[in-house]
Amino acid sequence: MTQRPYVIDEMISAKAIAARIETLAHAIRAEFHDTDKLVVVGLLRGSFVFIADLVRDLDLPIEVDFLEASSYGDATESSREVRILKDLRGAIEGRDVLVVEDIVDTGFTLSHVIHLLKSRKPARLKTIALLDKPSRREVDIRADWIGFEIPDEFVVGYGIDFAQRNRNLPFIGKVRFTD
Ligand code: IMP
Repeated sequence: MTQRPYVIDEMISAKAIAARIETLAHAIRAEFHDTDKLVVVGLLRGSFVFIADLVRDLDLPIEVDFLEASSYGDATESSREVRILKDLRGAIEGRDVLVVEDIVDTGFTLSHVIHLLKSRKPARLKTIALLDKPSRREVDIRADWIGFEIPDEFVVGYGIDFAQRNRNLPFIGKVRFTD
């Protein structure tokens, strides 16, 4: 399949992301200051850059685990079916858990993951999303911490892809088709 031509316009700079993560990490440290060992769960693949930066600002005992859920193909439209492609390695019963998501769009992915993880009886389950597109929401859900609220634009960079490309951009940019 050939890709429509597009350019990427910077929306959130690397510097703005770093500053925001520092503030978020401060709030997370306050919430989990009494935690024995926090399980930080990254939702693959889009959160891999965010989680890497976030955990380095968390001066807490943590372990890192990953979960892969899919609601997207290689297109810009979300489907409603959420499948677990890769489950956690560790048990979370009785543990404090922080789920790290890249973007909450329709909300189907995060709501499905929360439902699944809650069924495993964690002591505390909190969620953080780097980006939130509230205007796209179809499920009534909101992450406990949000980096940036953004309009209904398709974005890439800082771990987030468009058809598996552009994850390695250091900033968040919006896709603008040029054809
Ligand atoms: P939701 O289930 O509709 O909330 O979709 C969440 C997932 O869709 C995110 O974790 C992303 O992987 C993907 N997604 C949503 N919006 C965008 C976007 O603008 N660019 C790239 N991926 C997106």
